[in-house]
Amino acid sequence: MASSFSSSSSSSTTMLIVSILASSLMAAVFGGNFNQDFDVTWGDGRAKILNNGELLTLSLDKTSGSGFQSKNEYLFGKFDIQLKLVSGNSAGTVTAYYLSSQGSNHDEIDFEFLGNLSGDPYIVHTNVYSQGKGSREQQFYLWFDPTKDFHTYSFLWNPSHIVFYVDNIPIREFKNTESIGVPFPNKQPMRIYSSLWNADDWATRGGLIKTNWTQAPFVTSFRNFKDDACIWSSSSSSGSSSCTSSNSSSSSSSFSTNNTWFNQEFDSTSQRRLRWVQKNYMIYNYCADLKRFSEGLPPECTMKNSTKT
Ligand SMILES: *[C@@H]1O[C@H](CO)[C@@H](O)[C@H](O)[C@H]1NC(C)=O
Ligand SMILES: *[C@@H]1O[C@H](CO)[C@@H](O)[C@H](O)[C@H]1NC(C)=O
Ligand SMILES: *[C@@H]1O[C@H](CO)[C@@H](O)[C@H](O)[C@H]1NC(C)=O
Ligand SMILES: *[C@@H]1O[C@H](CO)[C@@H](O)[C@H](O)[C@H]1NC(C)=O
Ligand SMILES: *[C@@H]1O[C@H](CO)[C@@H](O)[C@H](O)[C@H]1NC(C)=O
Repeated sequence: MASSFSSSSSSSTTMLIVSILASSLMAAVFGGNFNQDFDVTWGDGRAKILNNGELLTLSLDKTSGSGFQSKNEYLFGKFDIQLKLVSGNSAGTVTAYYLSSQGSNHDEIDFEFLGNLSGDPYIVHTNVYSQGKGSREQQFYLWFDPTKDFHTYSFLWNPSHIVFYVDNIPIREFKNTESIGVPFPNKQPMRIYSSLWNADDWATRGGLIKTNWTQAPFVTSFRNFKDDACIWSSSSSSGSSSCTSSNSSSSSSSFSTNNTWFNQEFDSTSQRRLRWVQKNYMIYNYCADLKRFSEGLPPECTMKNSTKT
């Protein structure tokens, strides 16, 4: 994929103009504002919203990490954000970016970026919890250095599946397999959360490499948040969604939205891209961990037409 981009750099002036146009277009398309969409929740000044809401930075030092959460709760959506991860020696640090509901039987959809020594690869750790049960990890290396530039990380969450994307390339699909008894997150509204914290007891080479505090503060930057989503309101007793007509319930059949993300399923191009990532960049898949699941793999892993491996 990268080669098709690098071969087109024949005229640097044209490229410059194109990239200026592209970036102003991006700003218009995304237009997210961290002041409007998020609240800083912890870190005693270590999380900062800058440039009139266009940029958010989280930082971590020996005393504390920091974090923020969305003002809105959502029930389904397509969420994009751009991140530039902690650079240099980021070993021991974890940047988490996830959706989560409240309570003991909570749902959760996770990206966690596990730092590493300078020059060694980050791990992108993913997980899906439904009704309190997780243990569905898949981990990946990236095909670029995530500390050099901003890259787009996305969740698509609709009634039929959850898809994790990196730069619009699907890296993981978690299908709705309620038909075989596997709970799927589709009843509990979730908020977006993010944090930068010290996890050097497990993050880098399983905890062997500790955070080097002489490198602190560690910083991850965020921009261009976009939520194309059903916003949940809990003001009425049963709650209501911006995607349903005011007098209908929240069951997915009654959603009145034409949003393509809501009905999106994988076409053959997406399938092919997913297979490319999983073949070349996946380093852990719970569905392939027969040692861990010696009593039998989770049911969603053994569905005939699942897109594992
Ligand atoms: C860090 O680098 C080592 C050596 O290349 C690698 O085994 C490991 O998967 C990398 N990532 C993390 C988060 O440990
Ligand atoms: C931590 O970083 C400093 C500065 O780069 C370096 O001198 C030191 O050896 C590092 N400590 C460890 C334990 O690697
Ligand atoms: C919802 O309200 C509309 C008019 O406001 C009405 O025609 C429709 O029957 C209502 N639907 C339900 C499920 O109550
Ligand atoms: C949804 O589709 C209907 C009928 O095709 C159209 O009238 C309406 O404007 C669309 N709504 C949005 C938000 O695109
Ligand atoms: C899996 O199912 C989809 C439809 O849901 C179908 O298009 C696809 O061909 C199937 N793939 C395999 C390998 O059976």
